Amino acid sequence: MSKLVYLDHNATTFVYDNVVKLMQKLYSDQTLGNPSSHHCMGGYSRSVLERAREDVGKCLHVPASHVIFTSGSTESINMFLLGRARLVKPNERVRFITSDSEHPAVTNTFRYMERTMSPQIEVCILPTQKGLVQEKELYKVLQKKDRRVDTVSISYVNHELGSVLVKLGEIVEKCHKYGALVHSDMTQAIGKLDVNMEELGIDAVSFSGHKFHGPMGVGCLVVSPEVKLEQLMFGGDQEGKRRPGTQNVVGACGMAAALQKSLVEYPQHRKQYVLFRSKILDALRPFPFILNSSSDQMSTTMSISMANVDATLLVEALNQHQICISKGTACKAYSKDGSNVIKSLHLPEEYVNGTIRISFGETTTLHDVETFIKNLVHYLHNQVL
Ligand SMILES: Cc1ncc(COP(=O)(O)O)c(C=O)c1O
Repeated sequence: MSKLVYLDHNATTFVYDNVVKLMQKLYSDQTLGNPSSHHCMGGYSRSVLERAREDVGKCLHVPASHVIFTSGSTESINMFLLGRARLVKPNERVRFITSDSEHPAVTNTFRYMERTMSPQIEVCILPTQKGLVQEKELYKVLQKKDRRVDTVSISYVNHELGSVLVKLGEIVEKCHKYGALVHSDMTQAIGKLDVNMEELGIDAVSFSGHKFHGPMGVGCLVVSPEVKLEQLMFGGDQEGKRRPGTQNVVGACGMAAALQKSLVEYPQHRKQYVLFRSKILDALRPFPFILNSSSDQMSTTMSISMANVDATLLVEALNQHQICISKGTACKAYSKDGSNVIKSLHLPEEYVNGTIRISFGETTTLHDVETFIKNLVHYLHNQVL
């Protein structure tokens, strides 16, 4: 079997060797007990878990007490948004704001709120340009006097386009002036960008460990204990009574170690990613295509829409040749099930179905990129591989 070419690092990443070793060591450690137990094995497990919490806190420039371990971004996002929504009293009228280019973990939570929590809660979905919320539009809604804005939830790095909301700090400041909390889905940012939550002034951040070479099924909601959240699940008193259930101690440790390493590694690979991007763009020059990201964007992510190409067929053809990329789910872009992000781009008709996402990672080699280019160009000439 030829070597796999994996260009879908926004979906998930391989687990670092040092993280695998650390987790293996912890899994085979028969003195690691339940972190809530009162005996020495519990105490040991607690100390390991709290160390991981401190490490994550340091990476994000917040106290360890702000770090809540969860099963990943989806849970963290639900926990924050619904945790806020369920505090709204029957006689209150509040607004929750998000953008039209968020991940389904956010958009579907907003849809749920709209379906089940009206009229107390009104949701507002702001339009975006190239995946980025437009401040003017946001400020217009913040200024409305009819309802208090409880929460604004906007991502920092768009998962399909890689666009980076560099003005997040300013947006947070403005939202705070209107008394609104700001949550950000930072799933595609953490581990790559040096996110300083204190400097940003942001209230809450969600992310998953597997996006930066940690294990799957573990993530964080980072939020000050002072921010009130209604409990969604009931059980034990773990995670400061905010997230019941025995913690994934080994997963949390693996995630913390991966986060520390990826923050060091990422800047060292950036030049390489820029080179990969330019090689792909050069190869595409003879073909009609649109590069979808904004100028402020992660060098790891490319969203490309090609004219008169069926991205589903292209992705399948590449898969037959062991090349893994993802589709911008644009083929249904104008139907209910299509990608909201691609829809928001308002692409010309002939480009809509031809959107692919390529995302690089630390293991991506020039040979991988050249193999992808060779196959892509062949496909574009012949519509078959
Ligand atoms: C921006 C963003 N948010 C949320 C998620 C959900 O992450 P998880 O499936 O790990 O909960 C993802 C995963 O692709 C993502 O990219």
